[in-house]
Amino acid sequence: MEERPKTPRSENFGQSHLNKDPILNKKFFSKYKAIKKLGEGSFGKVYKAEYKGEYYALKFESHSEGQNLLETEATIMSYLKGPNIPLIKSFGFSGDYNILVMQLLGLSLEDIFNKRQKFSVKTTAMLGYQMMNVLQFIHDKHIIHRDIKPDNYVMGLNDMNAVLYLLDFGLAKKYRSSKTLEQYPYIKKKKLTGTARYASIHALEEMEQSRRDDLESTGYVLMYFLRGNLPWQGLKLKTKDNRYQKILDKKKETTSEELCKNFPVEFKQYIDYTRNLAYAENPDYDKLRKNFINVVTKTEGETFDFIYDWTTPGDIKKRKNVDKLTQGIGNINLKNTEKENSKSDLSSENESNEDNQSKDKKEKEKEKEKKEKNSNKNKINEEAKQGKTSNNKKNEEEEDDDDDNTNDKVESKCCLM
Ligand SMILES: Nc1ncnc2c1ncn2[C@@H]1O[C@H](COP(=O)(O)OP(=O)(O)OP(=O)(O)O)[C@@H](O)[C@H]1O
Ligand SMILES: [Mg+2]
Repeated sequence: MEERPKTPRSENFGQSHLNKDPILNKKFFSKYKAIKKLGEGSFGKVYKAEYKGEYYALKFESHSEGQNLLETEATIMSYLKGPNIPLIKSFGFSGDYNILVMQLLGLSLEDIFNKRQKFSVKTTAMLGYQMMNVLQFIHDKHIIHRDIKPDNYVMGLNDMNAVLYLLDFGLAKKYRSSKTLEQYPYIKKKKLTGTARYASIHALEEMEQSRRDDLESTGYVLMYFLRGNLPWQGLKLKTKDNRYQKILDKKKETTSEELCKNFPVEFKQYIDYTRNLAYAENPDYDKLRKNFINVVTKTEGETFDFIYDWTTPGDIKKRKNVDKLTQGIGNINLKNTEKENSKSDLSSENESNEDNQSKDKKEKEKEKEKKEKNSNKNKINEEAKQGKTSNNKKNEEEEDDDDDNTNDKVESKCCLM
């Protein structure tokens, strides 16, 4: 459980003992006045703030209680600067807090989902499409997110209300050398990094993550939106260690057929494809994107127009540059259901020669991965023992929280050059 930050010492916080919330209505950097709490995660609190009639989002990390990771998050986000990432304005310290000032965005997908309980197939596929864009963007810049979940995706505001943004890079990490593009070794970690409910099977097995893990998590997020829940939610358990193991077991035993039953086949194909990616394999984002377009235009017979379940006529009026969102689609006519060919199908029945070649490559990668896994076996057993001991200690303190993060954000400290 995160505690409320201690009463800060600086002038800015002089009245904080009179107010239950030590941040709300206070000014930071002599400019930004915190006017509304937007969200609170396990590592930070986010407020809407105002300065000269403009609005910003300020993320606070308590200096004395936190792990001092917000600065790294700011560095990663500034480096990643791109169309689906919140713009970073500044980073600094004020009293007890590290503060990240960024572009103000709208509601998170979790907030929207909580009001609706489910998303339509069309909405889910259009979100999936944008998720492929932003993940490809960060992956191409050598970064993996490692905490893909509905709370970490937010919609844009005003003219950008069609756009999906990815935030919370507190667990993000560089996964390969930017010079050689060689991926870092596939090793056993000491504990799970991420959020158990959406974590990939390999992440739950505490293995080093790569691009495939962000993509597999995305599949669980999408199925959560479609189904309204995931089969491994709400398992009755006593200790956290057990909980992770039980979630892992349930995830492993849940076939893609069961998970995606009653939904367009493309979702099952997505789960199969991402679950079968090799550690260092280049994901075919284009194929995945095309499949999401197919779901909307072919299966649903709808237009790929970024009109979501919650979009109002007022939202549509405000929109500008929606065309930019479809840049990754190439020449595909978003209304035409005829022109899509079998290449966009991820099922093995429709493999082209190119697909067969990539299959060979994939098999080689898998073999390499297996060898690496075996060579790490002794180390793994040793670390697993250690990991279990430290996890058990934590279990005594916290029980049965369905989707909390692990607190190894220290791992996010990474060199970007
Ligand atoms: N720029 C922003 N604009 C609007 N809302 C935001 C913004 N950044 C964060 N939020 C809201 O605050 C919540 C918490 O932010 P964030 O995920 O960065 O914090 P965290 O403490 O690292 O979370 P976690 O529990 O995932 O570790 C988000 O889920 C979102 O609802
Ligand atoms: Mg978060």
